[in-house]
Amino acid sequence: GIKKHILVIPGDGIGPEVTTWGKAVLEHIAQAYGHEFTYDEALMGHAGIEATGSPLPDETLEKAKASDAILFGAIGHIKYDDDPSAKVRPEQGLLKIRKELGLYANLRPIMLFDELLDASSLKPAVLQGTDILFFRELTGDVYFGEKNRSEDRNTASDLMIYHRYEVERIAHKAFEAARLRSKRLCSVDKANVLESSRLWREVVQELAKQYPDVETEHMFIDNAAMQLVKNPKKFDVVLTANLFGDILTDEASQIAGSMGMLASASIGDGTGFFEPIHGSAHDIAGQNKANPLASILSVALMLEISFGLKEEAKSITTAIDKVLKAGYRTGDIADTHTEADKVLGTEAMGKMVLQFLAT
Ligand code: IPM
Ligand code: MN
Repeated sequence: GIKKHILVIPGDGIGPEVTTWGKAVLEHIAQAYGHEFTYDEALMGHAGIEATGSPLPDETLEKAKASDAILFGAIGHIKYDDDPSAKVRPEQGLLKIRKELGLYANLRPIMLFDELLDASSLKPAVLQGTDILFFRELTGDVYFGEKNRSEDRNTASDLMIYHRYEVERIAHKAFEAARLRSKRLCSVDKANVLESSRLWREVVQELAKQYPDVETEHMFIDNAAMQLVKNPKKFDVVLTANLFGDILTDEASQIAGSMGMLASASIGDGTGFFEPIHGSAHDIAGQNKANPLASILSVALMLEISFGLKEEAKSITTAIDKVLKAGYRTGDIADTHTEADKVLGTEAMGKMVLQFLAT
């Protein structure tokens, strides 16, 4: 077995509820396969602000750097959403840790469980067979460009900026992944309007020459957003910038039936960071309603990507598949048209996955 130290950052809203089950699955895997995982916990977001005044306390960053992988829950609080003038915001914690850890590549697989074809608002025939891997750039773009607000407060700007090396490093990762999959890559930009997108396209075109076995296509973001729901099967590896990727993957989550099903891996220079793509969902926080499967699937990504434990990762997706086949659902993925689904709370769903892992 292997020895690893994992930092759990539950964060805000439903974060603590869902990571509880992600961690329980990690520990189950450790026991079952003879690995030794040690854990620590740290604060971020609103929880960090409340305790220390900072959305990313120094202690959290230190612990993050000292760990082999990080399991993160969710971030955000309605209090700040309704107050645009707030200077300190929970989200700053997440953005800062991404930057500090050099997590420039955010992998968001759109994995479709057949059992959930009816949970989507899209037609099953359109969805069936979809398998997309998004590469969202995560430490550049308008997220990190200079922000300005005029003195009279009537003008505001966020600089959309990319450097060649930032595009190159994530493009390499996406091309390499495409090579191991169906050898198709679609780079999404807005090069008909934006200079930063023209640099993006130029760099991807140049790199494509080094990957002649990969079929490379370029698409504008508006068209991509449309094609994604019209015919999702046409996509395999999708490479895109930070903001476009943020929006496009929320849209893509509906292919998988729910935001509650999508996991992501943020990787780069050092420690990997694993997080559901969903937010803090304060409307259901603390009510035992949240879907823990995105957190559990994030653990599967951690095992595979950070620790190279493919078999262990596979056992998790297999267990989830069995749980779904047995008809168990959380509210977000329950088929409202039939009575057949057995709707479970967060805790019961977490326990169900553990139970199927054991069989
Ligand atoms: C995500 C989230 C974050 C983002 C927010 C919470 C800052 O929406 O991980 O997709 O925009 O990157
Ligand atoms: Mn998002």
